[in-house]
Amino acid sequence: MHITQELNKRLTEVGPGTPMGEVLRRYWIPACLSEEIPVADGAPVRVRLLGEDLVAFRDSANEIGLVEAYCAHRRAPLFYGRNEECGLRCVYHGWKFDTQGACVDMPSEPPFSKFRLRVAIKAYPTYEKGGVVWTYMGPTPEMPAPPDYEWLRVPETHLGVSKTGEHCNFLQGIEGGIDTAHSSFAHNNDITNKNLLRTLDPHPSLEVDVEPWGFRYGSIRNISDDQSYVRVYQYVMPFQQMRASLVDPEGNPQQMPALDGHMWVPIDDENTYVYNIKYCATDAVPMPRERFLASEKRNGRHPDDRIGGTYWLKRNPSNDYLIDREVQRTKTFTGIEGVNTQDYALQEGMGGIVRRDLEALGSTDRAIQSCRELLLQAADDVEAGRPPRGSEPESHRATRAGEMFIPRGVPWRDATKDLTEVVW
Ligand code: FES
Ligand SMILES: [Fe+2]
Repeated sequence: MHITQELNKRLTEVGPGTPMGEVLRRYWIPACLSEEIPVADGAPVRVRLLGEDLVAFRDSANEIGLVEAYCAHRRAPLFYGRNEECGLRCVYHGWKFDTQGACVDMPSEPPFSKFRLRVAIKAYPTYEKGGVVWTYMGPTPEMPAPPDYEWLRVPETHLGVSKTGEHCNFLQGIEGGIDTAHSSFAHNNDITNKNLLRTLDPHPSLEVDVEPWGFRYGSIRNISDDQSYVRVYQYVMPFQQMRASLVDPEGNPQQMPALDGHMWVPIDDENTYVYNIKYCATDAVPMPRERFLASEKRNGRHPDDRIGGTYWLKRNPSNDYLIDREVQRTKTFTGIEGVNTQDYALQEGMGGIVRRDLEALGSTDRAIQSCRELLLQAADDVEAGRPPRGSEPESHRATRAGEMFIPRGVPWRDATKDLTEVVW
């Protein structure tokens, strides 16, 4: 399918009333991390989501409010508000709002006034699970049950979740996530090592199966005369990808077999928060914090890699990601440190919204094509009053990624069946 400029807008614009914006508003999506509002009556945080400016706060009863960023009175920023006694109080004239957006106190009006009963601010429902505060921003009658991805059922001891800002449209991020071929190049971090699994065959063949949650695809690399290396990726609507980390870059078993994934959550059309997920494949080996942080370091998104007090990276477009041309000449393919930093350099460098009408897609872009088709189908569905694919938890509850070696010629779907059964 050729993506015209018109289709590109349909795929990428996320504000209220846009086709994709309306699709995304039919799913429960991440608003922020639990760690951003760690304690009852703590400081509220700014949340910009799908182009809307909001504020999140945890009230005295541990209820989480996600409300519009501006006070109903004269639009003062509620970010500066006082979070006290089950409500967020505007510091301009003291109006107070609860987690539902109702005005519960209006001290600038006389005590007998009923004015406050007619005043409210917009508030979205929230659901806290897996270290993430989720919200639903669509029409109430269409609200699905909360999400139930496998990683949301994993105990804290076996799960790590983080978040990183990326300066480009969310779809650019997804398309990197379901593009297995680039890991043979962009993520080749030792060009002197001829035994790296993904460089043994740099042109994987891709086979896509559309599923109730989105699709899965097998990427098959023929790594020797008799062996194939197959990776099963999951694309979970609308913006999640999962893959397995069961073997290391040379094909040896990982000490802690895990599943990895991301959700690319639009801040607005040209900015995205990437939620990074890592969970243990079984309950055999838990994931201590140090181990999670070591993996964050490898990916270039460790807390030390961030600009203080933010989720944005120090290696960014303003400094060309600190690319080291000597390292690029002698050691790594990109010369950029951090696996995800490599992704961001390429995806952000395409521009805020990449010109898809100018692309030349090849055989390894099959999954990307399928993703666009499913998202466009979802836009059609929502316009026609149908729920989009994958919004109900039944559709994604039993979805898991995998990777394994199989004899060449053996069908990958059968071979990976047990491996992709959920454990949690
Ligand atoms: S602007 Fe918020 S109370 Fe007046
Ligand atoms: Fe990547």
